[in-house]
Amino acid sequence: MSFTQEIRQRRTFGIISHPDAGKTTLTEKLLLFGGAIQEAGAVKSNKIKKGATSDFMEIERQRGISVATSVLAFRYKDRKINILDTPGHKDFAEDTFRTLTAVDSVIVVIDVAKGVEEQTEKLVSVCRMRNIPMIVFINKLDREGKDAFDLLDEVEQKLGLHVCPLSFPIGMGYDFQGIYNIYEGNVKLFSGGSKKKLEETLEFEDLQDPELENRIGSPALNSLKENLELVTGVYPQFSREAYLSGELQPVFFGSALNNFGVQELLDCFVQIAPDPRPKKAEERLVKPEEEQMSGFVFKIHANMDPKHRDRLAFVKIVSGTFERNKPYLHVRLGKNLKFSSPNAFFAEKKEIVDRSYPGDIVGLHDTGHFKIGDTLTEGEELHYKGIPSFSPEHFRYINNADPMKSKQLAKGIDQLMDEGVAQLFTLELNGRKVIGTVGALQYEVIQYRLEHEYGAKCTYENFPVHKACWVEPQDPNNEEYQEFLRVKQKFLARDKRGQLVFLADSAFSLQMTQDKYPSVKLHFTSEFDT
Ligand code: G4P
Repeated sequence: MSFTQEIRQRRTFGIISHPDAGKTTLTEKLLLFGGAIQEAGAVKSNKIKKGATSDFMEIERQRGISVATSVLAFRYKDRKINILDTPGHKDFAEDTFRTLTAVDSVIVVIDVAKGVEEQTEKLVSVCRMRNIPMIVFINKLDREGKDAFDLLDEVEQKLGLHVCPLSFPIGMGYDFQGIYNIYEGNVKLFSGGSKKKLEETLEFEDLQDPELENRIGSPALNSLKENLELVTGVYPQFSREAYLSGELQPVFFGSALNNFGVQELLDCFVQIAPDPRPKKAEERLVKPEEEQMSGFVFKIHANMDPKHRDRLAFVKIVSGTFERNKPYLHVRLGKNLKFSSPNAFFAEKKEIVDRSYPGDIVGLHDTGHFKIGDTLTEGEELHYKGIPSFSPEHFRYINNADPMKSKQLAKGIDQLMDEGVAQLFTLELNGRKVIGTVGALQYEVIQYRLEHEYGAKCTYENFPVHKACWVEPQDPNNEEYQEFLRVKQKFLARDKRGQLVFLADSAFSLQMTQDKYPSVKLHFTSEFDT
């Protein structure tokens, strides 16, 4: 197969949702329809049900599973599909944001009864900012939920999307009978007592089939026809270009648990979803078809077993062919590195591969060379954009609880931060270290990992911060800037990349600072255009 054909085949995407909407179930059903697994239950959910640390540690202990489910690849209808797993738990939202830099499209899962929830709003806003093509899947139609049109309105208003239904439910909850596939123009109905059995699905080529009316009854058929008229009248016609440019989002309805609507979604997905997209580096736009290999690290997985301290760096290939044992330039270190056992991922396992193509994810064994955002190339100095840090929600001083182990502590903190577990800020005034996290759970995770992997002990101390703001560098002769640096010294810190950060202790003081020093530009993410 030619290099271009390899690229055109690939579909790399992520599934995002608020916890419990059905992301794990849908992932599993996609694998089932794709023939990648034989039975349900094969994909272990790696979500943290009660938000307890013990659950997280348990998951970490089963690291094999979570590494294997980080990327789920399978073949379906001449396509190579890579599903990138995103943690559902909100305390790990940063991890999800980073994974979204490596996808070419996403599927958004929404619970029909709960509608648009908080976590979905946040994740979709990130996708919207990056114009990532999105398909919406409204799940759990076997349950009583919101009216389909109300839900479509909610999706448009709360998520700021422009929807275009490509399927429509016949009934809902107890009366849920099936799905009209707008994209293909056919109908699928449940039959028999159990909605779970796929073999009991009945298919009708169109709405004219008299048997359809016999099955669902005239009221249901008439209501479906009315609804379809409304869909045609109200929503724009599907356009692949509009979907690919992030201006239009197709919507599917179904029930992942009952296998309903999943195949329609998958069949349409493989036809319309984008193949690997060009990616912006600081220097230029890089196209997948370029001969020279380039890729970037978007995730690092540590091995929790102290006897095997290696880590796995997940690299998304952006252009060219990645080859085993070929030297590549690690741009940040300015060093050439070779990889003798790059991993590729399949539904339930990982394997060593000789070649990977744009859209693929390779797992590289790493003994501490990689940080999130690092770029590999064949010599060109490229830096991929789009892996910014956001302001953490929680801030605490970290103290050494065992003076004999300060080296271990420093190394542990350094490596955990490289993995993106949390953010480290070093205060300008006194060099004290502050850890910023998205959720309180991470402090326990860090403490546990420092102790078990590095033999270091730490304690925390509260540090009240409202928001971390990245300070845009200014001309050193700017007097206002100099005054800001002098007056606010107590609140200034450096992040891990050495960027200056203002740690505002309240919304009020942030506002005051902005009013008093209007020429000092403060940003809520670490990446900004100057
Ligand atoms: P998540 O990854 O988005 O967090 O959600 P997950 O797939 O784990 O699904 C959350 C719960 O919703 C699960 O039930 C799952 O069985 C259920 N679910 C998923 N899809 C459907 C659907 O189409 N219809 C209905 N009725 N339920 C659905 P659970 O009781 O929390 O877990 P489990 O014991 O079933 O695993």
